[in-house]
Amino acid sequence: MTNSFFIKTYGCQMNVYDTEKIVEIMTREGFQRSLNIEDSDVAIFNTCHIREKAAEKLYSDLGRIAIYKENKIKSGKKMQIVVTGCVAQAEGDEIKKRNKSVDLIFGPQNYHTIVDALKKKLYGNTFTEFLCDQKFETLTTSTKKETSKLVTIQEGCDKFCSFCVVPYTRGAEYSRKVEGIFNEVKELVEIGAKEITLLGQNVSSYKSSVFEKKIKVEVNLAKLLKIISRIDGLERIRYLTSHPNDIDDDLISQHASNEKLMPFLHLPIQSGSNKILKKMNRNHTKSDYINLVKRIKSKIRDMAFSSDFIVGYPGESDDDFNQTLDLIDNVRFASSYSFKYSPRPGTLSSLKHPNIVDDNTASSRLQKLQSLLNQQQNEFNSEFVGNIEEVLFTENGKLENQYVGRTKYLQPVHVFSKSNIIGKTLKVHLRDLTSFSFHGSIKS
Ligand code: 5AD
Ligand code: SF4
Repeated sequence: MTNSFFIKTYGCQMNVYDTEKIVEIMTREGFQRSLNIEDSDVAIFNTCHIREKAAEKLYSDLGRIAIYKENKIKSGKKMQIVVTGCVAQAEGDEIKKRNKSVDLIFGPQNYHTIVDALKKKLYGNTFTEFLCDQKFETLTTSTKKETSKLVTIQEGCDKFCSFCVVPYTRGAEYSRKVEGIFNEVKELVEIGAKEITLLGQNVSSYKSSVFEKKIKVEVNLAKLLKIISRIDGLERIRYLTSHPNDIDDDLISQHASNEKLMPFLHLPIQSGSNKILKKMNRNHTKSDYINLVKRIKSKIRDMAFSSDFIVGYPGESDDDFNQTLDLIDNVRFASSYSFKYSPRPGTLSSLKHPNIVDDNTASSRLQKLQSLLNQQQNEFNSEFVGNIEEVLFTENGKLENQYVGRTKYLQPVHVFSKSNIIGKTLKVHLRDLTSFSFHGSIKS
């Protein structure tokens, strides 16, 4: 039986969470984590399928690791190669075809069975059934002490935006049970977590129930946030990613009344053109989004927003793109992510793909969009220079005695301190802004 393993994570925060869970499972079963792939007996690749580049990265890494494996076998040793995550779910057969050295393939709802498959040497198999309940019942809470932790509460998506692979790779919307989430957060807080980020591809459509005084009560995201905020010692709660159509008055009221809930909302819009939004199957318009932001800001004055954008969606004209720039001008984002459209196998847009925007046009639009978003981020941050803000410190900086933390609005802040301040929320005078982070000094 082999006993050391290496794991590489690609993609989003949910994959970071899944990797942590895989590490827990493997170590519980007697495996030791190795940070060096060449020394490991089992090499795990936890993959992302959201854009073509992320998937291609896997194939180039597998090419290299196949050579390590061959060399190991030549010197009488063993190595098993395991692919998990969204590429595994979407194109397991393709992986096997393109790289014969892969031993096992697990979709995102199957990684709880990795050790069993390794022990039974079920090499050559692909496990891609949607076993959400079974998976979450098997997982245990992370024992790694960290100030800021991720907790998946929901997976999958029923919205079927025309460009997106998530409904196919993570499956239909699934919400974890309240009790499991509550216990996980409580246990993380007991070992030192101060901030929890609740994760879901469509977190704002979370739906479950609990029994209160023997009566069954529906639990939406707002109610879940209320329940979780009762945990003593938990200071900050965040959640992502939300869909604009799911933000209801309950959630807005939670933000207004729950001090633990941070005033920051990641709310992807993808495009500011109604024509493109329709083609994307987003089911809302540019003005719906603007009105929603206004409605939230009228209740929570200091709410900051971030978003995701796609440029070069099939059929996007200059005018459509200008609508996106106009939306950004109107809303003013604290930070954002933006991408060039990437056709993904099986999605509606990749099947239809009329009028593909040429790559040069898409690149120049992306550059223009990013420079506007960077400018807004800089303007947002500039308003904080000189302020005293509460910062939760999560890690060491690169320099001696340096620590890094974040404000309520997720802005990174660097300070120097002789004593260890990780896990503490301190008032910090934000003195300078360098690109996207602050340098400050702790107020005594
Ligand atoms: N091409 C480019 N970007 C995409 N995203 C999702 N699918 C694609 C795609 N096919 C982006 C969206 C989403 C984020 C997680 O990734 O902006 O919100
Ligand atoms: Fe993908 Fe989000 Fe649209 Fe669901 S709501 S299909 S996860 S982009």
